[in-house]
Amino acid sequence: MTESSDLRLKRMPLNNGRGNMPALGFGTLIPDPAVTITATRGALEAGFRHFDCAERYRNEREVGEALQAGLAAEGIAREEIFVTTKVWNSNHRPERVGPALEGSLDRLRLKYLDLYLIHTPFAFQPGDEQDPRDQSGNVIYDNGVTLLDTWRAMESLVDHGRCRAIGLSDIGLNELLPLYESARIKPAVVQVEAHPYLPETALLEFCKEKGIVFLAFAPLGHGMRPGLLEDPVISAIAARVGKTPAQVLLAWAIQRGTALLTTPKNAARARENFDISALPEDALNEINRIQTRERLNLVVKTGIPGFIPQGG
Ligand SMILES: NC(=O)c1ccc[n+]([C@@H]2O[C@H](COP(=O)([O-])OP(=O)(O)OC[C@H]3O[C@@H](n4cnc5c(N)ncnc54)[C@H](OP(=O)(O)O)[C@@H]3O)[C@@H](O)[C@H]2O)c1
Repeated sequence: MTESSDLRLKRMPLNNGRGNMPALGFGTLIPDPAVTITATRGALEAGFRHFDCAERYRNEREVGEALQAGLAAEGIAREEIFVTTKVWNSNHRPERVGPALEGSLDRLRLKYLDLYLIHTPFAFQPGDEQDPRDQSGNVIYDNGVTLLDTWRAMESLVDHGRCRAIGLSDIGLNELLPLYESARIKPAVVQVEAHPYLPETALLEFCKEKGIVFLAFAPLGHGMRPGLLEDPVISAIAARVGKTPAQVLLAWAIQRGTALLTTPKNAARARENFDISALPEDALNEINRIQTRERLNLVVKTGIPGFIPQGG
């Protein structure tokens, strides 16, 4: 199998000419610190070379520890992995962006980031409280800073070599378009929820046109059941091609031209999620014809993270 036809090795070029990103990414949104360490090591051992982090996940220290130990144990150089983290909503004020990145680098034990993202377009009250609330329990937003103000601070981090690329997360086309037009350094990556129940086709087309990497989170529907992993179309294809439903969903995501983030929490699942291969055209078409539409994470509408518990 050639490198270009092997989905596991596919790389997405960055529109700033500064390298590329492995399409198959490992996400570190794992609440338990000990599991963060074992899962990150397991992902590295399985072959993942792209790691997605965030200061909001409150586990950058554990990810950094696991990466440092894992790279040393496997003889992998820093340049061989691609590491992303994200500036949180309470750090949108321009003067807070640089220190936020330095804090993340320190916790991750890294000298530079491959990619720094604005986690959501929503600015919260500036400060160290990540979830600022008023007396009624409502989030306190910050009207004193615009997304473009924050973006300008991100651009200067690229100028100063603290990160190689910058991008956005949890953003829709309506907000992306004006930012894209005004940006001196164009976004290299947009990270949003995407799977067969939420294909985000218009955003994907825009990203392809502009050379922006569309990075899908929750490609397995966040593992929720009932859900995508039990969808009859996905299960039937999995049985037909001799793969698991998870492998079918991950292959579909890469074959439609997106990068993805998945979060296997143990070594066996990491090997499963890395061991993907191309689906035949008819299978891709069947998945594209799925009519169910469902957004699982409302963060894009509020800036407040969290998957919506499924009724059962
Ligand atoms: N920008 C944002 O706002 C945002 C929001 C959400 C996520 N993200 C990023 O995207 C990453 C991925 O999102 P996600 O966690 O929703 O990804 P996902 O891979 O769709 O879902 C992960 C869940 O699926 C289950 N799973 C994983 N592999 C499986 C397999 N082979 N078979 C069956 N179940 C499997 C796991 O459940 P178990 O618990 O049973 O192991 C895990 O909890 C996150 O870690 C984070 O980095 C970003």
